[in-house]
Amino acid sequence: MGASHTLENNTEKEAGKVLAPSIKTIAVIGAGQMGHGIAQVLAYQAARSVIVQDVNQEALGKAAKGIEASLSKFVSKDLLTEVEKTAVLSRICFEPNLASLPPVDLVVEAIVENETVKKSLFQSLDAQMPPHTILASNTSSISITRLAAATKRPEQVVGMHFMNPVPLMKLVELIRGAQTSDTTYATVQQLATAAGKTTVVSRDFPGFISNRVLMPLLNEAIFALYEGVASAEDIDTVMKLGMNHPMGPLTLADFIGLDTVLAIMNVLYEGFADPRFRPCPLLKQYVDAGYLGKKSGRGFFVYG
Ligand code: CAA
Ligand code: NAD
Repeated sequence: MGASHTLENNTEKEAGKVLAPSIKTIAVIGAGQMGHGIAQVLAYQAARSVIVQDVNQEALGKAAKGIEASLSKFVSKDLLTEVEKTAVLSRICFEPNLASLPPVDLVVEAIVENETVKKSLFQSLDAQMPPHTILASNTSSISITRLAAATKRPEQVVGMHFMNPVPLMKLVELIRGAQTSDTTYATVQQLATAAGKTTVVSRDFPGFISNRVLMPLLNEAIFALYEGVASAEDIDTVMKLGMNHPMGPLTLADFIGLDTVLAIMNVLYEGFADPRFRPCPLLKQYVDAGYLGKKSGRGFFVYG
């Protein structure tokens, strides 16, 4: 899966648009619920070669099964043929060792929502990948400018924020760090469009657009439960039947992962230094107890 082309010799010239280098090979780092979905849409709708890396071998196995199951669902709905499914799967491979990744045109990072861990990964990727490689982060809230500052190529670092579940959700929120170049932005914008997604652009402030608006809603629903205003079921029913949300806020928090919700709330709280973003103590207690939501089998609800 070598990628020998450079920015100069690999440019798609599109009239009226910023010249954007075409992305042929992609590495997705982190094979959790987001990483495996991102790999799937990049290999399926965008038809790119994707290598998925995770430090956890079990996560790689789960990711492979998850992609297969999701594509099979599309086959059962006549949206994809068995032959096409096999072709998509043949474009995805898995690797447990970061140092063994081949050079790629784009890396999409989707590991744990922790700035220190992400910065360390960006430093390693910067040292390992060729100069033309774009480094994108699927972070929900962390500063792209600060991740970029951990590298020697800040103009080639960008936020590429997919929504969960990636194969079904239409949005990708793109985040321009203080130094993200027009070429880098145009390249990931065109790739997201090729993957069938609609893009929006946000400036680099905590939580961007999506989680600055969504997380206080989820946190407030958790406060309502904590203060005994109503049961978890009734809080969710109000938002589902009263506001036509597809999922109630507590179900959605469980679906995202309570560790991730808490990490995002902490980024908002620290980033804005504003008490309106303080994470609910009940959310902290659940994470301390290992109740991480659907992925651990228990959060505000219990999962089979
Ligand atoms: N691949 C393929 N098919 C899938 C799938 C996947 N990954 N996930 C679900 N489906 C299918 C289901 O199998 C089901 O198919 P059938 O109709 O044949 O049974 C269909 O999609 C609908 O799914 P469900 O019946 O399970 O449930 P639903 O109708 O409620 O739809 C949903 C599921 C699209 C997830 C919907 O509940 C929804 O939109 N929920 C809100 C999701 C949301 O808000 N996401 C954003 C989270 S925040 C974020 O992502 C940013 C962040 O940084 C935290
Ligand atoms: P997850 O817990 O499901 O998966 C994270 C994966 O990263 C795990 O498999 C873990 O083994 C792996 N990992 C951790 N450190 C690693 C490292 N140094 N190198 C390689 N792999 C490593 O988490 P997720 O829900 O997929 O979230 C991943 C990222 O996507 C986070 O930044 C999160 O904020 C963001 N995000 C999450 C959602 C959501 O709804 N869960 C939505 C959008 C964005």
